[in-house]
Amino acid sequence: MAIQWFPGHMAKARREVSEKLKLVDIIFELLDARIPVSSANPMLDEIIQQKPRIKLLNKADMADPIMTSRWLDKFSGENTSVLAIDAQSGKGLDKMVKLAEQILQPKWERKRAKGIKPRAIRAMIVGIPNVGKSTLINRLAGKNIAKTGNTPGVTKAQAWIKVGKSMELLDTPGILWPKFEDEEVGYKLALTGAIKDTILNLQDVAVFSLRFLEAHYTEALKARYKLDEIPEDIVALFDHIGRLRGCLRAGGEIDYDKTADIIIRDIRGQKLGPLTFDTL
Ligand code: G4P
Repeated sequence: MAIQWFPGHMAKARREVSEKLKLVDIIFELLDARIPVSSANPMLDEIIQQKPRIKLLNKADMADPIMTSRWLDKFSGENTSVLAIDAQSGKGLDKMVKLAEQILQPKWERKRAKGIKPRAIRAMIVGIPNVGKSTLINRLAGKNIAKTGNTPGVTKAQAWIKVGKSMELLDTPGILWPKFEDEEVGYKLALTGAIKDTILNLQDVAVFSLRFLEAHYTEALKARYKLDEIPEDIVALFDHIGRLRGCLRAGGEIDYDKTADIIIRDIRGQKLGPLTFDTL
């Protein structure tokens, strides 16, 4: 279920994350590896303030591996701790605890010096809807406990999941809103399934996708839709794909809604291979 974000929802989500924040030592900020910037919450820095954070580029299996390594380089160059993971298969998750231990080591050392026995690191996961929070929590817990849903405001007692010997994870994630005031970010969020299809016009999302593919994944676009050359005119490109895929109305006219839907499904279903939509 995707939520419509209104100012009231945002304020409530923010309050909930701030409350949970008090309980933890470190935050795992879950991002979509295909859109590592567009899937970030614009206000997270302000919400978490100085709390240590690890960025996790999830769904790395669906992202362009060359771009993922460039994003990892970029973020680590900014003195940020970052990992690429695939919560569905569990790839990369073994590094999460180790990295958290490294980051918190100075704090733990200070505690030890004061004679305080170190306890398990407490962590929480935050991220926008559909980025894979429940999948990750379930993976780490080894069982099905996190509620797969995006409803903010479902309050229940906080419970901790043991992750290895040295970490405890809040069993409910912090749900944050995506930034979709920017048109292009909105299209990317729709393409990766972070916002409901009904929020944006599907033909607009498809036009954005085709233009993006033409600029960044030309060969994949040509191969998928059997194109020798990519027509400059977007309607001609739609016509070609519509005809190729049998999206016709009675009378032989191209059904543009159906064509748009097919293009978006192809991209989401990785029919054009792994793709990354945030460029650098
Ligand atoms: P959320 O709690 O942040 O809202 O996200 P959730 O875990 O529900 O995951 C959203 C969708 O993303 C799910 O697919 C989930 O399987 C998929 N997903 C999560 N992590 C990964 C990953 O690393 N790689 C890939 N390829 N997919 C991932 P769904 O289609 O909504 O549900 P389902 O078909 O898995 O049941």
